[in-house]
Amino acid sequence: MILVIALGFHHLLVEEEKNHLLERREREARILAASMRLPFTQILLYEETGLVAEAGLLDMYVSRLVASKEMHVSYAIVLDSEGVVLSHSDLTQFHKRLDDPLTLKALIAADITLSHVGDPFKDGVIDVAVPLNVSSKRFGTLRLGYTLEGLAWEIRMLRRKVMALTAATSALLALLVFIAARIMTRPIRRLASALNAVQPGSFEPVKLPERNDEIGELQDSYRVMVDRLREEEAERKRTHELLGSTEKMATIGTLAAGIAHEINSPLTGAMHGVQALRKESLPQTKRDQYLQVVGESLDRIRRAVSQLLDYSTVHAAHFSDCDLRRLVGKTLELLDFQIGKGGIEVVNRVPPLTVRADAHKMEQVLVNLVLNAIAAMHSGGRLDISQVDGGPYVTLVISDTGVGIPEENLGRIFEPFFTTKGTGKGTGLGLAVCKKIVEQHGGRITVSSRPGEGATFFVSLPHSPA
Ligand SMILES: Nc1ncnc2c1ncn2[C@@H]1O[C@H](COP(=O)(O)OP(=O)(O)OP(=O)(O)O)[C@@H](O)[C@H]1O
Ligand SMILES: [Mg+2]
Repeated sequence: MILVIALGFHHLLVEEEKNHLLERREREARILAASMRLPFTQILLYEETGLVAEAGLLDMYVSRLVASKEMHVSYAIVLDSEGVVLSHSDLTQFHKRLDDPLTLKALIAADITLSHVGDPFKDGVIDVAVPLNVSSKRFGTLRLGYTLEGLAWEIRMLRRKVMALTAATSALLALLVFIAARIMTRPIRRLASALNAVQPGSFEPVKLPERNDEIGELQDSYRVMVDRLREEEAERKRTHELLGSTEKMATIGTLAAGIAHEINSPLTGAMHGVQALRKESLPQTKRDQYLQVVGESLDRIRRAVSQLLDYSTVHAAHFSDCDLRRLVGKTLELLDFQIGKGGIEVVNRVPPLTVRADAHKMEQVLVNLVLNAIAAMHSGGRLDISQVDGGPYVTLVISDTGVGIPEENLGRIFEPFFTTKGTGKGTGLGLAVCKKIVEQHGGRITVSSRPGEGATFFVSLPHSPA
């Protein structure tokens, strides 16, 4: 835009100045003609009256006029009233009768007339015609060719100057516009980068300078938006945590049944022992045996209770190096009762392997997966837990020989509250919680299953950093 406007101005300016220059030249030509009028009239008058016998005076004037550099005259012609050449700077024209349009026009003109011959801006000429008369008596006509040499050069110089001026002004204007644009867009860019910085986990509004304009309003909206996002993120986290603990309470119900059974038999054993110890006649060796039975039974009870207590306690997230084989072993121990009751054969083929994980949470994942597998094997089956190592991940493979999962459910089982166990039996939160925990570990949980052919769950966790 700036360039187009500048070029327009450039054009106007040059045209205007060209006209001025030409007008000046025309004025000079007119002055020259006017000043030549008297001497030439005089010579013709002298000749007519016979005061001067020599006709050479006219030729001398004409040749001096043309020869003089300062006069800028390229040709000079003196004509009589009939158009016959009395004197000419081109000697070959002497005595010829001229009848070109310029001559005809000059012969009848009553005053000085100017005509342009050729392009005035390309070394053209101004033809000036002057009537040579004394009041109404006309002796002849003088025609001068006033050269415009130098005008083209002047115009060229003018063009250059104006061009330089235009270029400088445009550059300056462009620079000013650029600086102004940068100053104006700076707050917008700042706001845009602040908006880009809003990402999950970083909901702190970036400090922006206060403003009272529209951008200020945008900045206020930005702050409100970030605050809302932060609140919603916190709300989402709370809901997630609630989800986890709700699910935990549900599995604790199932586990408690097993633990109760676990406690029952050692309790009976211990009670027997205590009753026997009451007998005073008991020999010392028997007494020692009973004491040992009571001790072992109480120890089993303590272990069972502490397992349940450990599982039901809400632990703060704590990542540490844990052994995957031990984790699996501990889970199987916890679910020993349910496994036995379901008539399930368990194979733990996980080798000792360290992963960086939150042991309690991973245990929760395993409890859920094993409970699901047990639930899917109504009339006994085989639960196979193994491990494959692939790239940056350790993958636990938990495979059962249960009823399997129909294809239409495969995409939904990880959704919260999806269950096929019927109302009051399952919460449908188990796998949703598993997925959440595994993702918190930077891992993935997937499934592959076909109805009637069992199900296999894959839990991939990143390797422990060396
Ligand atoms: N090993 C499996 N074999 C077959 N179906 C499974 C298996 N694991 C999960 N499912 C299916 O996925 C559904 C969702 O499992 P999820 O653990 O989320 O909830 P749930 O087991 O129904 O309820 P809850 O875990 O609270 O007892 C189950 O109802 C079941 O249909
Ligand atoms: Mg479940």
